Amino acid sequence: MKILVLGSGAREHAIVKALIRTGTDPSNITCAPGNGGISQEVTTVDLNINDPAVVTAWALAEQTDLVVIGPEAPLVAGVSDAVRAAGIPVFGPSKAAAALEGSKSFAKDVMAAADVPTGMARKCTSIYEVEQALEAFGAPYVVKADGLAAGKGVIVTSDKKAALDHANSFLTQGMEILVEEFLDGEEVSLFFLSDGSSVLPLSPAQDFKRAYDNDQGPNTGGMGAYSPLPWLPEGFIEEVQNRVALPTVRELARQGTPFIGLLYCGLIVTSKGIRVIEFNARFGDPETQVVLRRLLTSLSGLLHKAATSQLANQLEPEFSKDVAVTVVLASEGYPVTSATDREIAGLEEDDRHVEIAHAATKLVDGKLFATGGRVLSVVSMAKTFHKARKHAYKVIENIKLEGSHYRTDIALKVDEGADD
Ligand code: AMP
Ligand code: GLY
Repeated sequence: MKILVLGSGAREHAIVKALIRTGTDPSNITCAPGNGGISQEVTTVDLNINDPAVVTAWALAEQTDLVVIGPEAPLVAGVSDAVRAAGIPVFGPSKAAAALEGSKSFAKDVMAAADVPTGMARKCTSIYEVEQALEAFGAPYVVKADGLAAGKGVIVTSDKKAALDHANSFLTQGMEILVEEFLDGEEVSLFFLSDGSSVLPLSPAQDFKRAYDNDQGPNTGGMGAYSPLPWLPEGFIEEVQNRVALPTVRELARQGTPFIGLLYCGLIVTSKGIRVIEFNARFGDPETQVVLRRLLTSLSGLLHKAATSQLANQLEPEFSKDVAVTVVLASEGYPVTSATDREIAGLEEDDRHVEIAHAATKLVDGKLFATGGRVLSVVSMAKTFHKARKHAYKVIENIKLEGSHYRTDIALKVDEGADD
């Protein structure tokens, strides 16, 4: 099966590695545009992945059997619509279905129609309405921009002025604002493969969203993750499947916009039960690095079946009993700014436990340079969280990138809570 993977982050590197690990021949994988790490494993091609015509033409010319879309931008640009219309199976929802991620108010409407549990929210179009909503819900305040904001659209703060300033910065760009009730509890990312009518769960993960240790600092795209979550109650996955994923997929099908791709359920386990805080229409980053690291079932088979309406007869994917931890190395200044074009040295994967998924790197004359905010994802797998953490941190400590930073407490709580 010839596969084209679109994207250039650690998520896409993790997808490529998982395809290879679960049986796909690397010579059958192309990644566009890829990065300095991906290009060391498979062919990369410099396409404008947000141009539906360019991607479709390439996929047709190369007789591609499956297109896998990593990031949200090509989804929003309608790439999957165009590729699908050309008769090529594509793992990634249509532009209309991807609005589940891009438009928080659309997601809230779908959840209301499908009776999916989520927090209360108010849509606001003026700073006056925002102020009223903040008053109504009380602190801590949760303010969300209703549009794609590259992981920077949400603020959770007890500082009312900061909440208002955040809302104002998006209102002045013409975006609407959602003010939400604050939900207290552990966060879970649970991914489902969807073929438009059937869904299959992957293994749950937890992401660390804040920039610094002890959940301090600004929200980021994600600074680390681990999987599985041994503290989840029995029956959790079935409950999310039956109360969240299936009703959502059925509602989208009913509206004539079937969701074919990865339904990312961002959840909080509150004292009153499971609540959805967000949907994404794609694999999460960095959760994918730990979830797919543990996958045993053929990834190409799963994605192809999802893309061709064949999930109903597919057994649930299998995962290793080993655990996985990933720690993200970020550039100086991330998430506010990011220092780029600095050389990276000291990368050493140890074949047994640790592999490195590149997030923002380029290779120039055999040397590796950072090209963005999140630079590398060090991914470690072992029998226990204690060992996985130890191996991951040993590798990341030796990586040299001027000004870079990483969190030192990824999966620390679960490690301390475990009896190993
Ligand atoms: P989102 O982009 O919607 O996932 O929000 C980013 C982060 O903000 C989430 O991962 C949570 O940590 C936090 N967050 C979002 N919505 C809420 C909420 N209603 N209550 C508490 N925390 C939230
Ligand atoms: N890790 C959060 C996301 O991918 O949106």
